[in-house]
Amino acid sequence: MRQRLVVGNWKMNPSTLEAAVDLATRIARIDGGPIDVGIAPPHVALARVREAIGGSAVLVYAQDVHWETEGAFTGQIAAPMIAGIAAGSIVGHSEVRRDQGDDDARVARKAAAALAHGLRVIFCLGESLAQRRAGETDAVLRRQVRDGIGPLDRERATPSTLAIAYEPIWAIGTGEAATAAQATDAVARIRDELGRLGAAAGAFTVMYGGSVTGANAAEFAAAEGVDGALVGGASLKPEEFAAIVAAFR
Ligand code: PGA
Repeated sequence: MRQRLVVGNWKMNPSTLEAAVDLATRIARIDGGPIDVGIAPPHVALARVREAIGGSAVLVYAQDVHWETEGAFTGQIAAPMIAGIAAGSIVGHSEVRRDQGDDDARVARKAAAALAHGLRVIFCLGESLAQRRAGETDAVLRRQVRDGIGPLDRERATPSTLAIAYEPIWAIGTGEAATAAQATDAVARIRDELGRLGAAAGAFTVMYGGSVTGANAAEFAAAEGVDGALVGGASLKPEEFAAIVAAFR
């Protein structure tokens, strides 16, 4: 049985530290039962949120991490800075790829840095609308797995440290989620490529992300091969996030 995982990616929300602590405190009351539940607050809120939710089982993730451990990288956060605070980090989110020019090689280096410092990784990948329309989805997903996950140290990137999030870019924040069938199909291709790398593909948690809501979560929870959700907008509403967690329990 693969570990199920539902994580809220707060992105650049909420706008005050007080609101972040309040949101985290409410989410910390959600009972995930056997599944892992996580939140990814903005960097500036990580320590306060971690402190505020105390002994809760909710995992705190960073939204991104740099590949270097220190140095002249204005605005960036290094893995050792968050290692004592966060359980892991998201890497490769399409908004970071878009805004910071991250390519597969850079995302691989970020994931490697996080893993080297004992952090778990949620590795995001997914095709754009233009790529899907051009029939390139399969090639894009396979390339992202090969070039982003392929270089990782197999001893460190294990099913307990590395989860993958299939996030079609056209479904993120658009209200137009993929269908469960599209998610299942993409996840199968991702696992197939992982297998080609020699990884125990069937053991890795693969989540779906992109306009997951309380209303459609059950479809994804029932979709073959989908082990969880990476949730943006709906993760800012504790009741709705709780409903998504409940769907995957
Ligand atoms: P969304 O974002 O749920 O708001 O579409 C998902 C994500 O970017 O992880």
